[in-house]
Amino acid sequence: MNTKIWDLRQEHQTTEELDALKEMKRIFENDGLIALPTETVYGLGADARNEQAIHKVYEAKGRPSDNPLIVHIHTLDQLEAFTSGITEEIKKLMKAFWPGPISFILPLKKGYLCHSVSGGLDSIAVRMPSHPIGRRILQFVDLPIAAPSANLSGRPSPTTFDHVYRDLNGRVDGIVNGDQSEVGLESTVLDCTQFPFRIARPGSVTQSMIEDIIPNCITTQGTLDIDKPIAPGMKYKHYAPDTPVKIIEVLNQPPSSDKDWSKTAFILPRSKQNLVPDEATFIALCKDEQDIKTANHKLYQILHQLDQDEHIEQAYILGFPINDQTTAIMNRMMKAADQVIVKGEKL
Ligand code: TXA
Ligand code: MG
Repeated sequence: MNTKIWDLRQEHQTTEELDALKEMKRIFENDGLIALPTETVYGLGADARNEQAIHKVYEAKGRPSDNPLIVHIHTLDQLEAFTSGITEEIKKLMKAFWPGPISFILPLKKGYLCHSVSGGLDSIAVRMPSHPIGRRILQFVDLPIAAPSANLSGRPSPTTFDHVYRDLNGRVDGIVNGDQSEVGLESTVLDCTQFPFRIARPGSVTQSMIEDIIPNCITTQGTLDIDKPIAPGMKYKHYAPDTPVKIIEVLNQPPSSDKDWSKTAFILPRSKQNLVPDEATFIALCKDEQDIKTANHKLYQILHQLDQDEHIEQAYILGFPINDQTTAIMNRMMKAADQVIVKGEKL
């Protein structure tokens, strides 16, 4: 398949942009797939009403088809056709965080979206992204667009055009270049089909941010155990690069100097760079251990980088103590490391 590439970074309200948007709309209306930028990660978009298009999404990603997709919208008016039970609490959260990096699982009103977009469940995950280019596309095509992360199943999520291109060129109709995703981790998924709500996947919109809007609205039963699969997608191995990654629990002293570190990468805050053995590769995750925003933004880019660098055969990444802000990144790190944690003094 010939994959069309659009670069809309410099185009705003130009005829080039309009032509591109028209072509995208035609593609979506004819069962096509387009990877587009969002502020969390790039998504692989398809018309959520079209069974054949959704089938192609699962096929292009190599993803099991019982794993439900997130539907992307640009205006609240679109919700009426396929969701029900949107309470005042949910409206408050939408108002506070949309457009933005949180998806709400809502009761599904049947008949409008195709069956397999929800994996046969009675609920549907919905998100209104804020990325300016992603948003313009959603506005112009004015369709509910189902979009899982635009990576091959089991690979780290894509946060740049190059990541998407490497995984999906030749497998999809088009890819839109929209720079590096600002947030860098997939959206928070909040299950609102029951009260109290449940965080099905932690993200950059944290529990305390949600509870600042509606106090005591989240049950943490089961959700703080980041090893336990909660959202259906979490039961599959996810996010892992080919290069083996291990998490270091705490690192206060340089690792043993007797070992050959020449093919090892250390992914640490810049404030810990002095602990990296001379012959190892240092990759800066963020400024210091408080700089979670940068760590979120860069994690997947670094995981992709490990696989691009043939020189690196293994990597250690410094974990963060679990708290409200670090739950999401630790969840992704644990998956990348296949749950392997080592103690710094054992290195
Ligand atoms: O940031 C994001 O959320 C990105 C961008 C592209 O929007 N999308 C994304 O989609 O990460 P995906 O398909 O890779 O992950 C969707 C997650 C999966 O863990 C899935 O199981 C869960 O949301 N999910 C979707 N619908 C659900 C439902 N009805 N009930 C429970 N979990 C659901
Ligand atoms: Mg994904």
